[in-house]
Amino acid sequence: MEEDNGGSLKKQISKLFQTSLKTTLPDTDVDSLVVACTAKFGDYQCNNAMSLWALVKGKSTQFKGPPAIGQAIRGNLPETEMIEESSVAGPGFVNIVLSSKWIAKSIEKMLKSGIEIWAPRLNLKTAVVDFSSPNIAKEMHVGHLRSTIIGDALARMLEFSNVNVLRRNHVGDWGTQVFYKKSKERFDKDPDFKERAQMAVVQLQGGEENYRRAWAQICEISRREFDMVYQRLGVKLEEKGESFYNPYIPGVLEGLSEKGLIEESEGARVIFFKGKKVPLIVVKSDGGYNYASTDLAALWYRLNDEKAEWIIYLTDVGQQGHFEMAARRAGWLPQDEKLHPYPKTSHVGFGLVLGDDGKRFRTRSSEVVRLVDLLDEAKNRSKAALVGRGKAEEWTDEELEQTAEAVGYGAVKYADLKNNRITNYTFNYDQMLNDKGNTAVYLLYAHARICSIIRKSGKVVEDLKETGTIVLAHPAERALGLHLLQFAEIVEEACSNLLPNVLCEYLYNLSENFTTFYTNCQVVGSPEETSRLLLCEATAVVMRKCFHLLGIEPVYKL
Ligand code: ARG
Repeated sequence: MEEDNGGSLKKQISKLFQTSLKTTLPDTDVDSLVVACTAKFGDYQCNNAMSLWALVKGKSTQFKGPPAIGQAIRGNLPETEMIEESSVAGPGFVNIVLSSKWIAKSIEKMLKSGIEIWAPRLNLKTAVVDFSSPNIAKEMHVGHLRSTIIGDALARMLEFSNVNVLRRNHVGDWGTQVFYKKSKERFDKDPDFKERAQMAVVQLQGGEENYRRAWAQICEISRREFDMVYQRLGVKLEEKGESFYNPYIPGVLEGLSEKGLIEESEGARVIFFKGKKVPLIVVKSDGGYNYASTDLAALWYRLNDEKAEWIIYLTDVGQQGHFEMAARRAGWLPQDEKLHPYPKTSHVGFGLVLGDDGKRFRTRSSEVVRLVDLLDEAKNRSKAALVGRGKAEEWTDEELEQTAEAVGYGAVKYADLKNNRITNYTFNYDQMLNDKGNTAVYLLYAHARICSIIRKSGKVVEDLKETGTIVLAHPAERALGLHLLQFAEIVEEACSNLLPNVLCEYLYNLSENFTTFYTNCQVVGSPEETSRLLLCEATAVVMRKCFHLLGIEPVYKL
């Protein structure tokens, strides 16, 4: 029990309580009980006593009420160096205070072995993250920017948790959406043109050579534009566009037909859903496939060929139903999620990006915002701020460029990620580039400041890691230490619930904890210098990992 090799702190504590619950109620199936462990009171609290009381009430002579059960849970906690003291409060809440010594030792160990030992463990081998996914022959819009930023952060967190992540760009390269704007206008107005266009799509999907060549050229032009955005954002994606799944569609639909899921309706082939009047069209009346048929084939491929256990889609909230319907109706996923959590599909929906006027974000000149321009603007503004602070004289041109990019792009990403993704968020350069408040700029500063404290101490931190020890004596030191140790459970929560904002909140609180520590505890020149420098280093290491998981490039001086 002494080793911290059992995953996140919360998991380790839950395990201790689990053992205690078993001892407390040997005749009850406690395995099926969820250990209710929260990091609220004391350091952690177990509040299972009430629900256990409900189970044994009237049956047990041993306990007279929840407080007595709480006392027993406390008494049965296994011997461990993790816990300093425990107590029972109110109706049987068991509060524990962790040993400061143990917290300090865990941090020392992380500094020696690297932050990877704090990676969460998910019971999962392979995941698909389907994100970004713009449409060919169209501009990538701010919705795709959200999908790209949030999807990349989730992919990074899963990768850190040792999941094999297939980063999929499900590019819209295959339906009537592949039309230029002008043709789309004509498509809507001119029925004759519409019919010819639809026939052309069917022929293209059938492999007609001339259409194929023109199509490949259009895709290539779009791809170049998309790549510029990905490059700037430092996002890696593997393109498997809609066209990739085309050859799989007939077989997949046949499989569904055999199961009796597909019916004829007004010349089209459709799937009906319980409680829904409008069916899902999988073959249009002209014989062409559509968005839904492609997604069914993609889902089949991911489950069967790629053996993905978790398939995560990132699109605006409007597309939610589509994926759920497809997955459920196909009957390819386990019926009982509790017994078999995987394979599963999750839809990560997100709200709109708004301008200051509260309406959909646009620029003055055009209806869509070119993402490359938007990123340039963020970078230029951050550069201007750096120049304003005299950095052009202090730094090399290269340093100035790199920092301006890290701060500018980091600001755009963080402004998006820090909100609960479901809510709409307002795009505002001044706000996101503010160096005060919960912004990337503020956090990058905080990190750079810690690095400069270490630099100015004149000590070699690598040596301190080997020989020094950490002592968490001051309350501010202890609070910072405990917060550091909670990193793993936060990443675990952020990726299990697909909420990167949880990690942002953690990061912001970390910097607040650090500030409190730094205002209260003298570092350089104090008798505790070594311990406190190690605490600075641990904070910097965890902050950098947070930045990394959020796709933000850290800077070392600002
Ligand atoms: N191309 C779509 C759009 O621009 C997003 C695709 C999402 N992924 C999927 N498998 N359907 O809205």
